[in-house]
Amino acid sequence: MPIIKVENLVKKFGNVTAVNDVSFNVEEGTIFGFLGPNGAGKTTTINILCALLSPTSGKASIDGHDCAKESALVRKSIGIVFQDTTLDKDLTAEENLIFHAYLYNVEKSERQKRVDDALKFVDLFGRKDDLVKKFSGGMKRKLEVARGLIHRPKVLFLDEPTLGLDPQSRTNLWEFITELPKKHNVTIFMTTHYMEEAEVCNDIAIIDNGKIIAGGSPAELKKIIGGDVIYLKTKDNLKAVDEVKKALNVDASVKDGEIFISTIKGDACIPDIIRTLGDSVLSVRLQRPTLNDVFLKLTGKAIREDESSGADTIKEEVRAYRRRHQS
Ligand SMILES: Nc1ncnc2c1ncn2[C@@H]1O[C@H](COP(=O)(O)OP(=O)(O)O)[C@@H](O)[C@H]1O
Ligand SMILES: [Mg+2]
Repeated sequence: MPIIKVENLVKKFGNVTAVNDVSFNVEEGTIFGFLGPNGAGKTTTINILCALLSPTSGKASIDGHDCAKESALVRKSIGIVFQDTTLDKDLTAEENLIFHAYLYNVEKSERQKRVDDALKFVDLFGRKDDLVKKFSGGMKRKLEVARGLIHRPKVLFLDEPTLGLDPQSRTNLWEFITELPKKHNVTIFMTTHYMEEAEVCNDIAIIDNGKIIAGGSPAELKKIIGGDVIYLKTKDNLKAVDEVKKALNVDASVKDGEIFISTIKGDACIPDIIRTLGDSVLSVRLQRPTLNDVFLKLTGKAIREDESSGADTIKEEVRAYRRRHQS
């Protein structure tokens, strides 16, 4: 039974169609990734789901509540971590959470315990009396996630949670986010334009220019580009290629002094290859398709500007500028 249902959702701002006939479902207790480049329509979709924006047409519901008509019930069911931080920097970590618990009508007798638990969960209990303005970007993000969980929502929305964080804080935050469904019995809806971060998702929808262009698990999406490739050097490549094909029933060929083998689960296949070929193997390397490769294949462009050429970036910025000034 899906906890989030979106059917033919459309949102227009003047003559910009930010969300263009989008449909998807999210199953309870899973991590759902909504992926797309800047300006694709991710935040707009989240704002509709969170009852902050009304759709032009179509329907969205959370836990059976219509996002446009039952906004109070929807807000009770959700927690949100916005793209831009919304903590009060002049309050302490604890004060920020207490204030939130108060806004969400958490009973007075429960408030302090929930706040303490949340601070401990994100490892910030020792810093509870520090002003938020003294926190690093990663600490602020964790505190926001903790805040989003205080009222025990069924769904937690994370809009670009790792934007602006250094790589280590990003990794840290992801480890922590992946534990949430089990530990807090919550469904995660997250957006990102870092394709590699979506690896932790159970299910993904890729959005570009307001339209969903692909969906599925990370593994399913990677099948679009044909799975993993194993590169192998052996003492006798021609002999080895025949042996591997016969024994493992895989697609293998020799090129430029290397054997390459296409397979869906490369990591699981390597031990079988070694067993088949024994000491004839000189080296093995595994190349996995990334979700960015998937996006590139589907759209012909990289999802992040820094992965495309400078000229494309400038063109894209000019186009975005024109779009903004046409409406
Ligand atoms: N309030 C608004 N008014 C006008 N245009 C908007 C507004 N919000 C978003 N847009 C436009 O809608 C498109 C999608 O934006 P957004 O949902 O923020 O994308 P994302 O979160 O994927 O980067 C963009 O072209 C953006 O400029
Ligand atoms: Mg956004």
